[in-house]
Amino acid sequence: MSDRRQGRLTSRQARSVLITGASSGIGRGLAASYAAPGVRVALIGRNAERLADTAAQCEAQGATVTCGLHDVRDRAELAAWIRAIDDECPLDVAIASAGLGGGRNFGRLLEDPDRARAIIATNLAGTMNTLDPVVERMLMRGRGQIAVLGSFSALRGLPYCPAYGASKAGVHAYAEGLRAALAAHGIRVTIIVPGFVATAMNRDTTSPKPLLMPVDRAVRVIRRRLDRGARLIAFPRVLYWGALLGRLLPAPWTDRMLTCIEVDVPDSAE
Ligand SMILES: NC(=O)c1ccc[n+]([C@@H]2O[C@H](COP(=O)([O-])OP(=O)(O)OC[C@H]3O[C@@H](n4cnc5c(N)ncnc54)[C@H](OP(=O)(O)O)[C@@H]3O)[C@@H](O)[C@H]2O)c1
Repeated sequence: MSDRRQGRLTSRQARSVLITGASSGIGRGLAASYAAPGVRVALIGRNAERLADTAAQCEAQGATVTCGLHDVRDRAELAAWIRAIDDECPLDVAIASAGLGGGRNFGRLLEDPDRARAIIATNLAGTMNTLDPVVERMLMRGRGQIAVLGSFSALRGLPYCPAYGASKAGVHAYAEGLRAALAAHGIRVTIIVPGFVATAMNRDTTSPKPLLMPVDRAVRVIRRRLDRGARLIAFPRVLYWGALLGRLLPAPWTDRMLTCIEVDVPDSAE
């Protein structure tokens, strides 16, 4: 039965949208894709200047914009802000796009332990911090759509970014659990698994980036499938199948292949 006949909200009809990580990359592109007259977009990021740029673009497209300069690791502050936003204009769609990349450099066997913990706190706990207050409100209304940003690196541990892969594997498992728990309550959960997208996150990383795509193309794919209520948006398909195959092969083979790939992730102070 179609979503319309079941009375479910689809992303296309959204009038109130929350996006974390809206100051850059995929989150910024998604914010612009929803921005239109009659739509309120609530944008979260930490960098005031870049978040204001996204806000200006959304306003120029006719949307009403509210910006929140928040660190998604700050659970209490984030929850209070999201509840206040939802009080003003009940959320139809929430997308947890805020994320921190990172991995090891040449010459180092393992990644920096502080950075590794910041990655887990941002990507996994930050996603949970975002979704808790959203789910609470959507459950009361019995409708809504939630999307999280996963990664191919969640499908198979990679030697050059163990913590990033672990954080995203956690995001996948968390969202799958929510998807099963919330489906009967009118809340649709979508896991977005993009391949290589040309954003600030991987701009300075030296590695093969097969089928690297520009942000606007990735955003078009994501929006089209969000509007259809897809449960999983994994693209490009050929890379996704390759990553799944990597899970099926004997572990020593895949380990050997992966360690032949040279990857250098620049240091960061985070
Ligand atoms: N690019 C890819 O190839 C790719 C592939 C698969 C999955 N993804 C996922 O897609 C999502 C978006 O990444 P992107 O490529 O668009 O990267 P990006 O351009 O670096 O954007 C990352 C966003 O996350 C925000 N952010 C980071 N830490 C935060 C924190 N503690 N609190 C609040 N906001 C925080 C940043 O905000 P500030 O700069 O304002 O702090 C920025 O807006 C991430 O979850 C990433 O893991 C990306």
